[in-house]
Amino acid sequence: MNGLLLLIFVPFLTSITESANILYVTPFSSVSHNILLRPIGLELARRGHNVTVITSQKEKDPPPNYHEVMVDDKKIWEVLGTARPNVFNMVEMSAEDFHTYVLWGGGLACTELTLNSTDVKEFLKKDNKFDLVISEQFFQEALYTLAYKYNAPLALVSTFGNCMRHNIMVRNPLQLATVTSEFLDVKDPSSFWGRFRNLYFTAYEYFWWTFWYLKKQEELVKKYLPDIANDVPSFHTLQSNVSLFMSNSHFSFDPPSALLPNIVEIGGVHLSKSNATLPADLQKLLDDSKEGVIYISFGSNIKSSEIALEKKKAFLSVFRRLENHTILWKWEDDQLEDKPSNLVTRQWFPQREILVHPNIKLFISHGGLIGTQEAVFNGVPLVGVPIYADQYNNLLLAEQAGFCKILQYHEINEKNLYKVVSEILNDNSYRENAKEISRRFKDRPMSALDTAMFWIEYVIRNKGAEYMKNPARNMSWFAYSMIDVYAAILLALIIVSIILVSIFKYLLFLLSSNKVEIKNKKKVA
Ligand SMILES: *[C@@H]1O[C@H](CO)[C@@H](O)[C@H](O)[C@H]1NC(C)=O
Ligand SMILES: *[C@@H]1O[C@H](CO)[C@@H](O)[C@H](O)[C@H]1NC(C)=O
Ligand SMILES: *[C@@H]1O[C@H](CO)[C@@H](O)[C@H](O)[C@H]1NC(C)=O
Ligand SMILES: *[C@@H]1O[C@H](CO)[C@@H](O)[C@H](O)[C@H]1NC(C)=O
Ligand SMILES: *[C@@H]1O[C@H](CO)[C@@H](O)[C@H](O)[C@H]1NC(C)=O
Ligand SMILES: *[C@@H]1O[C@H](CO)[C@@H](O)[C@H](O)[C@H]1NC(C)=O
Repeated sequence: MNGLLLLIFVPFLTSITESANILYVTPFSSVSHNILLRPIGLELARRGHNVTVITSQKEKDPPPNYHEVMVDDKKIWEVLGTARPNVFNMVEMSAEDFHTYVLWGGGLACTELTLNSTDVKEFLKKDNKFDLVISEQFFQEALYTLAYKYNAPLALVSTFGNCMRHNIMVRNPLQLATVTSEFLDVKDPSSFWGRFRNLYFTAYEYFWWTFWYLKKQEELVKKYLPDIANDVPSFHTLQSNVSLFMSNSHFSFDPPSALLPNIVEIGGVHLSKSNATLPADLQKLLDDSKEGVIYISFGSNIKSSEIALEKKKAFLSVFRRLENHTILWKWEDDQLEDKPSNLVTRQWFPQREILVHPNIKLFISHGGLIGTQEAVFNGVPLVGVPIYADQYNNLLLAEQAGFCKILQYHEINEKNLYKVVSEILNDNSYRENAKEISRRFKDRPMSALDTAMFWIEYVIRNKGAEYMKNPARNMSWFAYSMIDVYAAILLALIIVSIILVSIFKYLLFLLSSNKVEIKNKKKVA
């Protein structure tokens, strides 16, 4: 009997991973990052793993095998010690300035905040054992050293798509002609200047990161993790030794590109398991809408209520003209003067659930990747107003796929806004294209969340899956780029050419000296 049971179950056993101890490091306090990252930690716990999360966002009702180590709760602006800026002004910022003033500064401050938090310090003193460390890949390299501390494989998860710095570290092909650096906005990525800008920016970011940023991260390791600081390998070694990189992308929407087997696309991971329902009042509002609903949000970081006055007026006039549509606007002030009767404002809307509703006709968005993926997942057309970082290029992909119109922030006025909005509402092709891309995005062997789970457990089962890492990561740059071989071929060609030229010259010489002799002979005769 037992033998029979074994026969039945053995085929399944090979893909089962026993409950593992997993450390999940996602301390960055951004609401949108957490939307993407929390389902991964919770799902690991649901599958029976003992999950410890370093986080700044407390779960309301965590399962018993989900342990939270809290980072002091501060917003990025408090951490940076600056007043919260009007984020709409970032529309003027170059990708370089965005790095200098936001990413580098914010990354260092958040990493220090994490390591200096009381709970985290207590936790690091304890004698814990982990089978895997998963860290968000977002300018917090000092925390990658925890993989060394616990002698565990390291996996990274990115809320952005591809990461050029990681590609360079693990020697995934950069594909600069088609893959745009993750925080760069370029008008026409495939043009000469688009590709030139991409190459320049990738090099710029890489050099600042290597020669400046990582040094600062190293100082944090020395300050807060002195017991391992002297022995820990360099950040380059740590990152090129990463077992798994989970990228928030999918080839049905992002440009298809060559990826190493340990770089896995999990775009849509936060959408795989959503069965939340709308609150009754919103449900009724959406059900009852005559001509459909337009939803507007500029995301969790940007406050709509800080939009310039004349642009606010343009929005209100356009909404008034669309009298039979219901408009939902994430508006953070209690007050909004001169509000049309078809406009409903709230400080916060359950965006994911709203976008699922069949009456949603249009989403006016800033083009943040997570919101864009929610539109892709649900097949909702977009009007995009990009503000900073990757937003323009996310929207450009949507525009190229035929379900989005980009409206630059500076070009917002009643005429332009009405034009793009009514074009999308009246031309059915936007909706059809959105539905088609949604179908493609979901057409996969398994859901994004199951994909993430499979590869995380795969790495645990295979003790870091050393054999899956690119052997090229250990090669010297000239061996990797084949320069030595090309140089040898070039040298051989040069030598052969020199020999051929010499032979040719010698023959010529022989020929001409013969002629001279003949001439001389004639003269003598
Ligand atoms: C689960 O992880 C916590 C650390 O957060 C640890 O204290 C506990 O012993 C672990 N439980 C098991 C069963 O390994
Ligand atoms: C670290 O935290 C302590 C309080 O726990 C605070 O007094 C100190 O200023 C913090 N240090 C830094 C560099 O933030
Ligand atoms: C490559 O380097 C890593 C350290 O970065 C080392 O652990 C690994 O054994 C090396 N692999 C090969 C094939 O040399
Ligand atoms: C759906 O929601 C219910 C109640 O909120 C929950 O008990 C259930 O586990 C959820 N199902 C999935 C697949 O998440
Ligand atoms: C709204 O609906 C009413 C009644 O059906 C109609 O008369 C009016 O023209 C519509 N307005 C717009 C802007 O379509
Ligand atoms: C590289 O990762 C493996 C686990 O995947 C680990 O055993 C090894 O020590 C790491 N090497 C270095 C140099 O960090």
